[in-house]
Amino acid sequence: MANQFPKNHGIPPNPYNAHCWITGNPQIGAGTWIGAFTLIDGQGGLTIGKGCDISCGAQILTHSTVRRCLTERRIDKVDRKPTVIEDYVFVGTNAVILMGCRIGHHSVIAAGAVVLENTTIPPYSLVAGVPARVVRNIQPDVQAWIVEALAEHDPAKRDNSLSE
Ligand SMILES: CC(C)(COP(=O)(O)OP(=O)(O)OC[C@H]1O[C@@H](n2cnc3c(N)ncnc32)[C@H](O)[C@@H]1OP(=O)(O)O)[C@@H](O)C(=O)NCCC(=O)NCCS
Repeated sequence: MANQFPKNHGIPPNPYNAHCWITGNPQIGAGTWIGAFTLIDGQGGLTIGKGCDISCGAQILTHSTVRRCLTERRIDKVDRKPTVIEDYVFVGTNAVILMGCRIGHHSVIAAGAVVLENTTIPPYSLVAGVPARVVRNIQPDVQAWIVEALAEHDPAKRDNSLSE
């Protein structure tokens, strides 16, 4: 069967994934991975730290047209608020992070979570649900995983200290 899909699907190219839609000019740290079908909205100012994983289908937003829409354009501007995702954050598949959030480093945003506008998440948090809530502090889990990994791969170089 002939390929019925156009070669160019209309999403502007980016260095991360051919099927990731990046808008604005987000700052993205080294080693961060971004999956397909993601929306990375840098329009209101977005910083994503180093070593993050943004799973397929996740959406990170820094703007909202709610007020513009419901006022029948009497408010003619789009609301924008910056979002910061610190280093080593895992964002699960189909999670949504709304504008104005700060996600602390080494946190997990569980699959399908919706992090409401202006939410601040402390470092080492497991966050889940709609609306998203901090389920628990996962620093002991992360520490234990590192000790386990180092013991398995190179016991001589064991160093369980994490970056701050
Ligand atoms: C969060 C996650 C990592 C599990 O972490 P965990 O430490 O094993 O968490 P637990 O299973 O112990 O769950 C802790 C609590 O969070 C809840 N929870 C976990 N994941 C959840 C989710 N996605 N949505 C809603 N609640 C969730 C559990 O029901 C549990 O609630 P309870 O304490 O009331 O019973 C996993 O559920 C997840 O979402 N993984 C993301 C997978 C993914 O997106 N993969 C993409 C490709 S890599």
